[in-house]
Amino acid sequence: MPGQLVINPRKAAVSLRIVIVGGGIAGIATAFTLQRAGHNVTVLERTDGTARSQGGLRSPPNMTRVLNHWGLGPQLAKLATKCPQFVFNEPNGEMMGLVQLHEDFLVDLMASFVFIQHGDLQSLLLGLAEREGVEFRYNASVSSVDCDAVSVTLASGERLYADLVVGADGPASLVRNEVVGEKITGYKDGHLSLTLAIPTELMREDEDLRPLTEDGNWWVWLGPCTLIHASLVNGRKAFSMVIALQNVPQEILDQYDESWDTSYPIEHFGIDFSTFDIRVQKLMKLVRQVTPTVHIRRPILESCVCDRARIVIVGDAAHPLVPAGQHNAGVSIEDAETLGALFSRIQHRSQIPRMLAAYEEIRQPRCSYAQDWELRKRTMMSAPLGPEQKARDAGIRRMTLYSDWEHIDEKRFMEMWGDEMEMFSHFATERVDDWWTKWGSLLARDTGKPEVPLTPTVEVSISSGQQRSTFVY
Ligand SMILES: Cc1cc2nc3c(=O)[nH]c(=O)nc-3n(C[C@H](O)[C@H](O)[C@H](O)COP(=O)(O)OP(=O)(O)OC[C@H]3O[C@@H](n4cnc5c(N)ncnc54)[C@H](O)[C@@H]3O)c2cc1C
Ligand SMILES: *[C@@H]1O[C@H](CO)[C@@H](O)[C@H](O)[C@H]1NC(C)=O
Ligand SMILES: *[C@@H]1O[C@H](CO)[C@@H](O)[C@H](O)[C@H]1NC(C)=O
Repeated sequence: MPGQLVINPRKAAVSLRIVIVGGGIAGIATAFTLQRAGHNVTVLERTDGTARSQGGLRSPPNMTRVLNHWGLGPQLAKLATKCPQFVFNEPNGEMMGLVQLHEDFLVDLMASFVFIQHGDLQSLLLGLAEREGVEFRYNASVSSVDCDAVSVTLASGERLYADLVVGADGPASLVRNEVVGEKITGYKDGHLSLTLAIPTELMREDEDLRPLTEDGNWWVWLGPCTLIHASLVNGRKAFSMVIALQNVPQEILDQYDESWDTSYPIEHFGIDFSTFDIRVQKLMKLVRQVTPTVHIRRPILESCVCDRARIVIVGDAAHPLVPAGQHNAGVSIEDAETLGALFSRIQHRSQIPRMLAAYEEIRQPRCSYAQDWELRKRTMMSAPLGPEQKARDAGIRRMTLYSDWEHIDEKRFMEMWGDEMEMFSHFATERVDDWWTKWGSLLARDTGKPEVPLTPTVEVSISSGQQRSTFVY
């Protein structure tokens, strides 16, 4: 079946008791990979777990590839929208540039760039985790974590002990403070993202809007200090939009936080769309609720593991990205794949610190790079009028000229895609295989236990490209 892989996941030689704090995308995905690796996982989520966000997520090729690897290809084919091209517009609607995601390019990356609704991805991942037998506890708010005792305490006073605690409690993470050993603070840096979704059935009646419901394009409008990007999600039943603002005054930022809990009517934000593309103006008339999320800039961490090496942080807790960007969900999915692949090889409890050191070594440079990449892209794409904006627009116009794939040469290809390729072409499973090939035998020798044989797994055939034809998505 397209995108479905029959895999015999590796099981660890020892079954660990693992507690995960937070049941968002990162927490659910990590619970799935660790339980599948043979461990006993409990997820503690403070909400009742019923809310589903309508906003869209971008799944770049390296994220789609992991989801396919987990067997979600057929569901993605139904719910996600495969992106054929990025369409860049001036604020007034005039087309500035067009970048095709050509099949040849995607075949090399072995997966597509797709759009998926946050709530849909959450449900799909929950399905995987529940099938593996993960225990989910809702209304379970964690109030403290103890690195020495390796335990977490709930608001109710109940205390849970574990071999390993994973902090997946989002950008305002409480586990992070314990891991780092101090309270990490940040500041609102002027970036505000407004997320919304419009039912496509409302758009089909309008002839200007109907084309937006037909193509899977990534629609982008580049206005001064305002980036708008939009795509179809939820089996094309919803048009999801992000309005990303830069240089927003402090007194406005002060009204909002980095959560996704509250929404307002669009008028609340007092944005003047009258000079914008008629399509944007019409879309704004159809909007009901808008979720504002501010970016809090924090120092990029040097470590994601506590001193005693029994607690690790993943997802936005470890590396919060500018909200509603390109790689937010991607890096979380990749954290999950990496942690699961490592802990499927563990043979003894005493190896937990080594495994976490490997995790940190593999992930930390990638995640720091992704944090920087995302902020750089957001700042450039929502630049105020000026030299930076002019250079950006000229670059986008130039890319369009090069989109003739039959004749593109390497220099032009790198100019156009170099920065993206660095982000797109990374595959978590291979990273762990590489690391294990280098260091795994040392680790096994160290504990005096027999080494787990390095049997070739399906990951190897993916990287050698033999399975390529099965990846439709
Ligand atoms: C409700 C919601 C809706 C979102 N919608 C979008 C969207 O539409 N578009 C988009 O681009 N991004 C969205 N995001 C952000 C996106 O999920 C993240 O950027 C990315 O996927 C990384 O997720 P994460 O799991 O690391 O963190 P988060 O998604 O923030 O998840 C953290 C989870 O931990 C739980 N938690 C926090 N503290 C505690 C505690 N003390 N005890 C127990 N549980 C705790 C939270 O309730 C939450 O479920 C949303 C996030 C949330 C929470
Ligand atoms: C969570 O709490 C709410 C409100 O108190 C309750 O209605 C709901 O049933 C609880 N859910 C779970 C899974 O315990
Ligand atoms: C994609 O690749 C980049 C850079 O190689 C990495 O930082 C990012 O985490 C990757 N994301 C996924 C989902 O693999």
